Amino acid sequence: MIKKNSFNPIKLIKYYKLINHNLIYNNKAINRYKKDNFEISGNKAENLDKLKKTILSLNNCNLKRQAKNIVFSDGNPNSKIMLIGEAPGANEDEEGLPFVGRAGALLDKMLAAIDLDRKKVYISNIINYRPPDNRRPTDEEIKRYLPFITKHIEIISPKILVLLGSTAMNALIGNEVVISKMRGKWIEKKFGNCKTSVIITFHPAFLMRQPAQKKMAWIDLKMIRDKKI
Ligand code: URA
Repeated sequence: MIKKNSFNPIKLIKYYKLINHNLIYNNKAINRYKKDNFEISGNKAENLDKLKKTILSLNNCNLKRQAKNIVFSDGNPNSKIMLIGEAPGANEDEEGLPFVGRAGALLDKMLAAIDLDRKKVYISNIINYRPPDNRRPTDEEIKRYLPFITKHIEIISPKILVLLGSTAMNALIGNEVVISKMRGKWIEKKFGNCKTSVIITFHPAFLMRQPAQKKMAWIDLKMIRDKKI
């Protein structure tokens, strides 16, 4: 007997839920990460909140004036691994979350390659507001935001700190170093009371422009994967 193709609305709804029907019906950017709530110990939560409020209350900041949203962080504040990029771009400014654009999609793939994802790491940037036209932040802007990211590192207190690209590296390690010489090495460093192992690797946006360098980034990723923490 030939079975008739019957329309089953319950099955269809279940199917749409399974494949995330928003992807089909909704044109708006999907906020993939906002819903994750992590239990953070009282002090850490309070300190993160305080830091965010301090940045939100900055006066005379050109970046803040022109941005739509603060981009503070994403991921798990209890993670032992913290990643730091440069500054938000247009997508990040729109969503208020770091690395949600094209560079973010590559970052997700890099993390997945070593069995990590955003629930297992914590992500922030040197600068918390989008520089207009996605330009590099100026030395002056970096100087202004440096105390915030330093405090941010101290609050999270990661065992591993991954600096993505030369802006993050120069801001936190020093201007005299070049990424081609510094990447793929462990550096022990102190930020306030936080002693951490720092590793520098290429920024995903750079890797999109220079895919031949992905093999070097892969070496760095394996070092992170294999580090005993
Ligand atoms: N590039 C960065 O450095 N940070 C982001 O959040 C997005 C792109």
